[in-house]
Amino acid sequence: MMRVGILTSGGDCQGLNAAIRGVAKALYESFDEIEIYGISDGYRGLIRGEYKRMKPEDFSGILTIGGTILGTSRQPYKLMRVVEEDSVDKVAAMKKTVTKLRLDCLVIMGGNGTHKTANLLREEGVPVVTLPKTIDNDLWGTDITFGFQSAVDIAANVIDCIHTTATSHGRVFIVELMGHKVGWLALHAGIAGGADIILLPELPYDLKRVSAALEKRRKQGKAFSILAVAEGALSRREAKMGKKELAAARAAEGYPSVAYRLAAELQDQAGGEVRVCVPGHFQRGGPPCPYDRVLATLLGAAAAGCIREQRFGVMCAMVNGQVVPVELEKVAGKLKKVPEDCLEIRMAQEIGVSFGR
Ligand code: F6P
Repeated sequence: MMRVGILTSGGDCQGLNAAIRGVAKALYESFDEIEIYGISDGYRGLIRGEYKRMKPEDFSGILTIGGTILGTSRQPYKLMRVVEEDSVDKVAAMKKTVTKLRLDCLVIMGGNGTHKTANLLREEGVPVVTLPKTIDNDLWGTDITFGFQSAVDIAANVIDCIHTTATSHGRVFIVELMGHKVGWLALHAGIAGGADIILLPELPYDLKRVSAALEKRRKQGKAFSILAVAEGALSRREAKMGKKELAAARAAEGYPSVAYRLAAELQDQAGGEVRVCVPGHFQRGGPPCPYDRVLATLLGAAAAGCIREQRFGVMCAMVNGQVVPVELEKVAGKLKKVPEDCLEIRMAQEIGVSFGR
């Protein structure tokens, strides 16, 4: 008898259910005797011992559904070994659930924080296989994460819609896109939506250059402009600050986010109307796009393959068009940032997109 647990952790994204389905269907195909347990709400359920014995029918009809049927939560990695007021030893509690269910493997789907804890569980002797999910696409070791392409679709659609109203009114619009500390989503959505200026955390911006890019467009007779700004975008001055100094400086400024500060600054410098649009969690919601359904299904089936081969302690990754297992210890704690000289940035610059540099 094979026993496998599945959990989804961290911020949700499109394609989680497709991946859960992929894992389960491939496991049912592979093993005559198999029990699958759905762990509730990510690591929180593993800590609390909250789970459900899944049936084959639980995995039907979920391919196209957004979110996660298992629920999710954010359980900070840095607190995993800290015993808090509730006196719970979280690592011991997670291992206890694994032992109680006699799991042969725990399939964990998540982003960066999730992978650090998955690696911790591996170090503690738990057989784990992970899948890379996040709209941020910032997980080291894989070319792409599921959720990313669906979020790009939504974000690009937002920019498309903003384009028409910006054109009618001759306004400058700043569209702030998710992505946490990296700019993949803003970069791809910005290019797909035809943004004139794209600001990314990886390329700290110079406000004067941003203003100059707007001015250039005005001189060309273009009354409107669109800026696609990553939520983690930084000015050059901010890029030199430490984490605490940056947080204090931002708090003192009092803007809800970088887009609002930029709007105020650009309004001061250039005059004219500057409006902000923050699609926020819209970018993580709704059905996965077909690309993500395929990717999540491939990776889910690959996770079942790893279990078949007893290949544990790995993330099923997409590298150069192939699904490959990547050692978790190599993945954990590393961020995949947008390289300054990547093709997308070079080509966008070729067609006149400004990165505020
Ligand atoms: O990691 C995915 C993500 O959507 C980031 O892009 C964003 O910064 C963060 O999660 C938002 O987190 P929460 O859903 O906890 O507000």
